[in-house]
Amino acid sequence: MGFRASPNSKGAYATRTSSQWPYNLLKNLLLNLYEIAGNEWPMYAKRLTDITPFRVMELMERAKLLEADGKHVVHFEVGEPDFATAGPIVTAGERALAAGETKYTQALGIPQLRERIARFYADEVGVSVPAERIVVTSGASGGLLLLCGLMLDPGDELLMSDPGYPCNEVFVGLVNAIPRRVPVTAQSHYQIQLEDLVENWTARTRGVLLASPANPTGAVIGRDHLARLTAEAHGRGGFVLLDEIYQGLIYADSPEYRSGLEVDQDIFILNSFSKYFGMTGWRLGWLVVAESALSGITRLAQNLFISPSSIAQHAALAAFEPAAMEIHEARRQKFAARRNMLAQGMASLGFTVPHLPDGAFYLYVDISRTGMKAEEFCWRLIDEYQVAVTPGSDFGTFNADQFVRFAYTTADEDIHLGVERLGKALADWGIGCG
Ligand SMILES: Cc1ncc(COP(=O)(O)O)c(C=O)c1O
Repeated sequence: MGFRASPNSKGAYATRTSSQWPYNLLKNLLLNLYEIAGNEWPMYAKRLTDITPFRVMELMERAKLLEADGKHVVHFEVGEPDFATAGPIVTAGERALAAGETKYTQALGIPQLRERIARFYADEVGVSVPAERIVVTSGASGGLLLLCGLMLDPGDELLMSDPGYPCNEVFVGLVNAIPRRVPVTAQSHYQIQLEDLVENWTARTRGVLLASPANPTGAVIGRDHLARLTAEAHGRGGFVLLDEIYQGLIYADSPEYRSGLEVDQDIFILNSFSKYFGMTGWRLGWLVVAESALSGITRLAQNLFISPSSIAQHAALAAFEPAAMEIHEARRQKFAARRNMLAQGMASLGFTVPHLPDGAFYLYVDISRTGMKAEEFCWRLIDEYQVAVTPGSDFGTFNADQFVRFAYTTADEDIHLGVERLGKALADWGIGCG
């Protein structure tokens, strides 16, 4: 608390010479009384106390400082492709700008893009989805907010995995609903099991949020498993939200299925142009929703966002064309090779990767053999060896001190260098290589 009395201390009172000064004097007097009574001003929403900052942001800040000091930092912390957006998409974006496509669009997205996404499902995935059910959003983040607004009332519960994508519970909290985290382990393939769903489902549960491949584990949900979970949730009158934002980044040559829509057309799908399509900064994603949701989601989208970015939507039309798809596909293969390279490097250092990721670009590594907690491990690694990784505590609480996430969104040479530095760290710390 600061006392607002001196004309020099606080900004408002300093305007003594303006005609406003009597009001400012009164305001400051009242605020002082308010603060003396033990209140904070301005008052911010209590929900902020539940929103924890990403530890990785502080580590990234440290990385920047080290780099400014001329140090070469190996980045395993960044959850976005290191590749630039594919050329054909950039060209389409430039054309859209030049053509003046800079206005609001329809709230659910331009019809051409909704139809193009529907065609992607028909051609690439082999499922028929009418374009009307596709909602273009401001990234998957915008989609998540729309889904929470659509599905959850205050006090409702949504089941989600721990570890999982950390922002999910913030979106749920924003609509005053309750995220219920369900611990998952490598033994359960880092996915919620049927018995977990049954055990954690309460009278307040409205549905379950799944992700395949998942962040931070890269774990995919098997087709039958998804079918069973979905049948159980639907049978209880609940819904299933499936985050498929890493859909294109699956490493099996013949995946069991390409989209949850193949398993059940009533699953609500969340997807994005950020990862496989390499468009993180364009802020564009999409949902596939039930026809019955369209009226509600249109009202929400109109009010919350007016429309997704017009330029990004026009650019994204090119994302599905063969020239761009070839580039995305080559990058997927590159990520697969990097996954193997990093996993081998970790194994050579004696680390356990309890579950080799089926997709996405993350390795969730058990560091318990170092005897350090994940955050200490991450700080020592960046400070002493300039290798940046994300502690498990950014993804939940379950076994979080025991795990760190390595993102292989970094060049091959840096992956080798990172493993080499980690080996040196272990030797210097007297831990040895397993
Ligand atoms: C699992 C998952 N869902 C959603 C998002 C949000 O993605 P965006 O808003 O960039 O589409 C991310 C971002 O990292 C993610 O990992």
